[in-house]
This record gives sequence, structure tokens and C-alpha cells, in this order.
Amino acid sequence: MRWRWGWDNRGQNPDIDSLAVRPKHVGIIMDGNGRWARRRGLPRIAGHHAGMQAMKETIRACDDLGIEYLTLYAFSTENWKRPQREVEFLMKLPRQFFITEIDELMERNVRIRVIGDTEQLPADTRETVLQSLERTKQNTGMNVNFALNYGGRMDIVFAVRKLAEAVAEGRIAPQDIDESALAAQLSTAHQPDPDFIIRTSGEIRLSNFLVWQSAYAELWFTDVLWPDFNRQHLLRALQEFSGRQRRFGDIGR
Ligand code: FPP
Repeated sequence: MRWRWGWDNRGQNPDIDSLAVRPKHVGIIMDGNGRWARRRGLPRIAGHHAGMQAMKETIRACDDLGIEYLTLYAFSTENWKRPQREVEFLMKLPRQFFITEIDELMERNVRIRVIGDTEQLPADTRETVLQSLERTKQNTGMNVNFALNYGGRMDIVFAVRKLAEAVAEGRIAPQDIDESALAAQLSTAHQPDPDFIIRTSGEIRLSNFLVWQSAYAELWFTDVLWPDFNRQHLLRALQEFSGRQRRFGDIGR
């Protein structure tokens, strides 16, 4: 089947079929756009634009590979510290992305969500994002979370606040608060925790990405800069995941 983003390789690529175990939920920290641009003598925003293309290709590849949940770190709560021009550009990208890609996302039956605080997004971007969420709401295929104005600590703080309100109003007792009660208030409520997190560009840290949810995630780091990341890199990462032994605190058996 031909999609606008390329060929659907599901079931045809021996590399794909050789993956014994696939993660259910992949999280990606898309890092290195600025360095990619600088190496080419381009402005940083050109790196983000190229990063958006890599993101499109990655969504498509994950869908072809049968990944059920994909979370993409597009803008962190700390990214507001960047130069105004760059922030403005980054804030425009989601609008551009959803306007041009919504039809393909619908064709692929992809359900999109945004995690993070959308209140601070520019009004037109927020409107397009919310309309796109609404349009894909009934889709039953891959789930894609865009982490926009997202911070893992903020996610936990908001969840704790909701639990505190429930206690204050007498709806729950303090002893009802356990890990699953807290997880149910996070932005990723009712989704499996990410079991695999990828970060590009050689940085070896989580940078406030899904900090609660990634407690048991396998981590994979690559020096590849995000705009250069492609299907082959993704397959290599997934092959490594497939070979990892996950013990969750138990002993290996
Ligand atoms: C980090 O690279 C990247 C970002 C802060 C932005 C990521 C955004 C995209 C890939 C596009 C998202 C598009 C949509 C539609 C949501 P960096 O700028 O920190 O790179 P550097 O470390 O090399 O400077």
C-alpha cells in the first residue's frame, strides 16, 4: 500500500519480522536539531524544520512496525528560555504539522493526543491542535502523544494536586493514594508506561521527559542528530530492545 509518506513495509521487511519483542510504548527525545543546522551553516529553525520531517517519517515507521503508543518530546517546559524567535518558530510548527498531515494521520487511523499544558500555546496553534485531537478521537490505530509544553515534574505536580483536591473534598482517603491512583491522574493515564526511550544527539539524560512513567523503561542513546534519524536507526534501536533482558527487579530466569 502506498502512503504519502512512503511505502507501508509492514510484513515485507525481513528486519521488521526479525524483531522478537517489540516495545508497546516508545518515547523519543528528539534532540540535535540546532547542531544539525549549525553544521550546515543554517539557522537553528532550519534544524527544527528538518526535525519535523524526521518526526513524520518516524511516526510512519512506528506505525508500519506495529508500535501501539509513541510519545514525542516536541517542546519542554524549559524550552521557553530559548531566544524568542526560536520559541515562536517552535510554537508554529505544530499548527503547520497538523494542517498538512491530518489527512494522512486519519488514513492511518492514528489517534493523537497532546500531553503538556496547552493553555500557553499561541491561540491559533492551540485551536488547530485541539481540532486535530477532536478529529482523531475515534481512531483506533497507533496512539501518538505530542509532548508540547511538557515537563515530567509538572505532570506529577498536577496529578498530586488533583489527588489533594479529591482528599480535601472527601472523595478519597489519603490511604487510597497508591501508585496506580497517581498514575491515573498523569497525562498518560490509561496508557502503558513507555518501555523504550530513545534519545538522539549523544546526550545521556532524560531532561524531565516522562519521569514517573519511565521508571522501568529501557533507554537507548545514539549520536545521530534528530533530523538524520531514519527508519534504519529506529530498526537498530528496536533490535537492541528485542535483545534486552527485562527483569523489573526480579532475578533473571
Ligand atoms: C531539541 O533539539 C529539539 C527541540 C527542542 C524541538 C524538537 C521539535 C521537533 C523535532 C519538531 C516538532 C514538530 C511538531 C510539529 C511537534 P535542540 O534544538 O536542543 O538541538 P541542539 O541540542 O543541537 O541545539
